[in-house]
Amino acid sequence: MADCEDLASFPPGITPLAASQKATFAYTTVKDRLPVILTKCVDEISRTLHAETLVGGSDSIANEKVTEGKAIIASLSKLVYELQRDRPLTLLEDDEEDAAIWNSVLAKMDPSGSQPATWFSAPWLFIECFMYRKIRSIFVLTRHWKDHDVFASNQKETAFSGSLTSMETLAKHLNDVKKTDLDDAGRIAVLQEFVHFSLWGNQTDLSLLQDVAHESLHQLQTTTTANLTEMEKRIIVNDSDALVDTLKVLKNGRCDFILDNAGFELYADLILADWLVHSGTASTVVFHAKRIPWFVSDTTRKDFEWTLEAIQKHARDTSDDVLDGTVQRWRGLLEKGTWRLQVSPFWTLPYPFWQLPTAGNELYTEMCTSDLWIFKGDLNYRKCLYDGDWPTTTPLKVALGGLVRKDTPPLVLLRTCKSDPAVGLKDGQAGEMDIADKDWRINGKWGEQHCSSQPYYAFSC
Ligand code: F6P
Ligand code: MG
Repeated sequence: MADCEDLASFPPGITPLAASQKATFAYTTVKDRLPVILTKCVDEISRTLHAETLVGGSDSIANEKVTEGKAIIASLSKLVYELQRDRPLTLLEDDEEDAAIWNSVLAKMDPSGSQPATWFSAPWLFIECFMYRKIRSIFVLTRHWKDHDVFASNQKETAFSGSLTSMETLAKHLNDVKKTDLDDAGRIAVLQEFVHFSLWGNQTDLSLLQDVAHESLHQLQTTTTANLTEMEKRIIVNDSDALVDTLKVLKNGRCDFILDNAGFELYADLILADWLVHSGTASTVVFHAKRIPWFVSDTTRKDFEWTLEAIQKHARDTSDDVLDGTVQRWRGLLEKGTWRLQVSPFWTLPYPFWQLPTAGNELYTEMCTSDLWIFKGDLNYRKCLYDGDWPTTTPLKVALGGLVRKDTPPLVLLRTCKSDPAVGLKDGQAGEMDIADKDWRINGKWGEQHCSSQPYYAFSC
């Protein structure tokens, strides 16, 4: 892992979003949403303690686990307390490899030692990521809960079950189009369709949908072509043509997915990846997952593997041969190395992606052998744009800052809008959106499909 470096700086006039600005979603998130997420973690540990009938058990390992469980609850509660009272951010005390980097970035926020960064004053992107790293720290410091994913059973797995109907529909659709004789235009139309499924798959992230009943998830998921046509009107920046131009000349290339959420979104990404391979566009697809539980529903290696197993189990239980065949094919692609799952620590470091070429240089260099990077979801979007308060008409290439260099391959950003930053809009478009839907930036009902391709300008730090 590269040594800690300073955070990149913004161009003049652009500032990082912070929860100190009360009119922003950053403020609402830190004030209301993050405490709810932490409180749910406390609930999950209490339930786990009871479900495993650990409380009241007599053997010493169980006792130790209970004691540790209670300490975890206390630490999580302390974190909520500190966050709600806007206390200074405290250093990580675990010995994971990236702890020094986090601590060093934190220390650099207050070089004089007189104005410590707090939950509301520090940049929103930093503190929100820091909260998930703090949660990790609490678990990693124990003996029996080190690998416990506090978001797995209550949230990710339950949401997964609520998405199975959508998954069945989409597998059938993929199967049908594969059997259809398509000309070039037909193949491009199908590609665009699967790109859009992948985009709208991002609607169902669990850090935002804390209160949605999981049975109603299927209604949120766009799984039919008819729905998709309706939803296309909601894509406020749509660089579809640029993406098609990039992909139609690509044969047996490599595409990288910088994944976001597990569950239905991951599934829609795998469907798109399946089509990329089937249509001969890609002979290699690399999926980048998170090293640790992140933003509630982001995909870890465990989630990826669990998802394939759970879909296959469901397919066999319900005798759904199409779904079963789909997962079997995916397993084959993984075994052959056509698909690869990669987990780099970079994605959960405090850095915006402007610093991928520097702080994540090894990863960046390897990823430059790819022909297309597909960044999924809202957080990846924020990290690509460094979470600045960009004017909405800022061209994407400007907001991508140091991420694009002359070696950076074409890249696509697919997100539903769930936070303040938004760029690439036309003059006057943001004003029209404010009238059409005052919450368009944050309610996940609107999407963006950005594509940025070469030539990139040489970027110098
Ligand atoms: O809470 C902030 C946030 O980044 C939101 O913008 C978004 O709702 C969520 O976290 C993560 O969304 P995604 O899963 O699409 O990255
Ligand atoms: Mg996410």
